[in-house]
Amino acid sequence: MSSIQKIKGFADLFPEDSRSFTHMEAQARAVFGRYGFGELRTPLLERTELFAKGIGEDTDVVGKEMYTFTDRGDRSLTLRPEATAGVLRAAIESSAIEPGRATRLYTFGPMFRYERPQKGRMRQFHQVNAELLGSAEPQADVEVILMLEDFLSSLGIADLCFELNSLGCRECRPGYRAALTAYFEALDHAKLCEDCRRRMHTNPLRVLDCKVPACKALVADAPVIGEHTCQGCRGHFAAVLSLVDRAGLKYTLNPRLVRGLDYYQRTTFEVTSGAIGSQTAVAGGGRYDGLVKLLGGPDAPGVGFACGMERLAMLMDKPEAPCPDFFLAVTDTREGTGALDAALLLAHKLRARGLSGECDYQAGSMKSRLRHAGRIKAKKCYILGAEEFDAGQVTVKDMEEGDQLRLDISAFD
Ligand code: HAM
Repeated sequence: MSSIQKIKGFADLFPEDSRSFTHMEAQARAVFGRYGFGELRTPLLERTELFAKGIGEDTDVVGKEMYTFTDRGDRSLTLRPEATAGVLRAAIESSAIEPGRATRLYTFGPMFRYERPQKGRMRQFHQVNAELLGSAEPQADVEVILMLEDFLSSLGIADLCFELNSLGCRECRPGYRAALTAYFEALDHAKLCEDCRRRMHTNPLRVLDCKVPACKALVADAPVIGEHTCQGCRGHFAAVLSLVDRAGLKYTLNPRLVRGLDYYQRTTFEVTSGAIGSQTAVAGGGRYDGLVKLLGGPDAPGVGFACGMERLAMLMDKPEAPCPDFFLAVTDTREGTGALDAALLLAHKLRARGLSGECDYQAGSMKSRLRHAGRIKAKKCYILGAEEFDAGQVTVKDMEEGDQLRLDISAFD
């Protein structure tokens, strides 16, 4: 009978990979903690309408990529495709957003998008996500961008490119959308891909982001947002850029950076790397004033980002496995002596003293046991052979120095 396999686009993370994720989480907690952010954990499942409303019906995420199903109570539920909507839902529901005070929250965990899996693109992937709610000031945008940079440097990842843009606001974006639609209409738009022929009317900014070569060629001369933003948006973005400059962060301006989710206003950013194949974005985010209100909360602005943990893991050095303090080898191969029991109880005593290590319940040759102790980089190998067992003793071999001594097992009581 064939065994059951995992679902396409989903991955198992064994200790070697898990260690990278645990390290990222620890670094995120340390760095974000320095900025006054607290951890929030939200459910993986939310009502579908939260994402439809929050992310936008006409986005690829909502239109094509969500894992949506009807539960036994006839509710439409969706596995979260991103964290922002859920974080805002939770903050609104628990009245965590107070007027005149910024609320800073971070979260990590799995997200789900039914995308075509490829290197760096999974159907279940993990994000580190941070949101700063309640401040409309450019300083908040810059704090979040600098915190992201701080976090990425804490992982030792180099050669990342910060791309910045402003998407305008509810006041000025309609004018830009109209200009884009007019531009595409004047072109030979039959050359656009099928999605973009629809998007040029429903969501023309998304055409700028299309990866299809024919669309890329057609958008080359499209109007840029900077020519259409209102004075308020221009002033906000100028303040962001000036602060980012003064903080010493290197970035490039990318007027084609539109992001795939509809809630963004004003500042948007992405961090890209050339070292992970075609899926270059390791992080993305921006300002989403109006979203809290749209989801039924107070009129509180917000700004945040999310990093893709699988993509960061590809760029990071893998953290070393911790070296155990001991490996307990049983080399007494006689039947029924009770050596295995003695080994288990001795290991238990060693752990009670704060030592870490593992015990082998397969009695075997000294050579193979020592080889295993070396492979797992144990600092000491405790050997329980026939002679030791009969004498109520254990041999302790220092794996680095090579010297060994015999001790009474009762010494560990
Ligand atoms: P996003 O750009 O959709 O933004 O995702 C953020 C990051 O998640 C991406 O840059 C990428 O590294 C990773 N990612 C996205 N999809 C996949 C996938 N299928 N496989 C692997 N990694 C993936 C958001 O999700 C926004 N909620 C970010 C945000 C927070 N904006 C404001 N606050």
